[in-house]
Amino acid sequence: MKANAMPLEEYKKAAALKALEYVADGMKVGLGTGSTADHFIRALGEAVENGLRVIGVSTSVRTEKLARECGVPLVDIDAAGQLDLTVDGADEVDPDLRLIKGGGGALLREKIVASGSSRVLIIADEGKMVSRLGAFPLPVEISPFAWKTTSRRIRDSLSQFDVGNVAVALRRNKDMSSFITDGGHYILDCDLRSIGDPDGLAAFLDSLPGVMEHGLFIGLASAAIIAGASGVRIVRPEGSLLPVL
Ligand code: A5P
Repeated sequence: MKANAMPLEEYKKAAALKALEYVADGMKVGLGTGSTADHFIRALGEAVENGLRVIGVSTSVRTEKLARECGVPLVDIDAAGQLDLTVDGADEVDPDLRLIKGGGGALLREKIVASGSSRVLIIADEGKMVSRLGAFPLPVEISPFAWKTTSRRIRDSLSQFDVGNVAVALRRNKDMSSFITDGGHYILDCDLRSIGDPDGLAAFLDSLPGVMEHGLFIGLASAAIIAGASGVRIVRPEGSLLPVL
């Protein structure tokens, strides 16, 4: 470990605490899912205890439970309208702020919440930054109905998108039962090693019946807060609407 290196959880927490600076009084805030988002929710709970007024919209049953424990007021997304900001983690972030998400299985709700937010702030440790997406297996949420057919259609088409490998597996729990998402769907994990054409692959998956959502988040992130041994930095795509703090 380098002299100034910290445990991974400390980097996640550092990114989460920086994200809190972007939360203003009165905001409606989308709450992401995962271990990094958990740090943000805990910090937001402390801020609420100290008088910050916000309303949260959760992206998973897990996040809803934690937010309640932390005292963050919640509202159903249908009642919330447009959100001011969503803060969420990611499994991979490329230099154009294209993301792979869904390692925790919450991608469908995460994408719905992110797409209804004026700004989306990604928080992550440096290890999530990649020059090309795909080392992390791409999660694809599918309907249990005809899942083998959908799985085969995906597998048979993947090579069109300049991928480094083609392997598609149904996500399972430790006891080998099928993993079921909050929405009652299955997840396929696509081991592609690298994705040369993420935009094309996203468009293909968007068009395939049986696919409920996929973990390629393209054009959604306003900025990413990345924490590592050299400190906390902010990565912004051109035209990002996120204010410089
Ligand atoms: C949840 O479905 C994912 O999209 C998470 O945001 C992602 O897996 C990051 O999780 P960690 O913060 O735990 O790495």
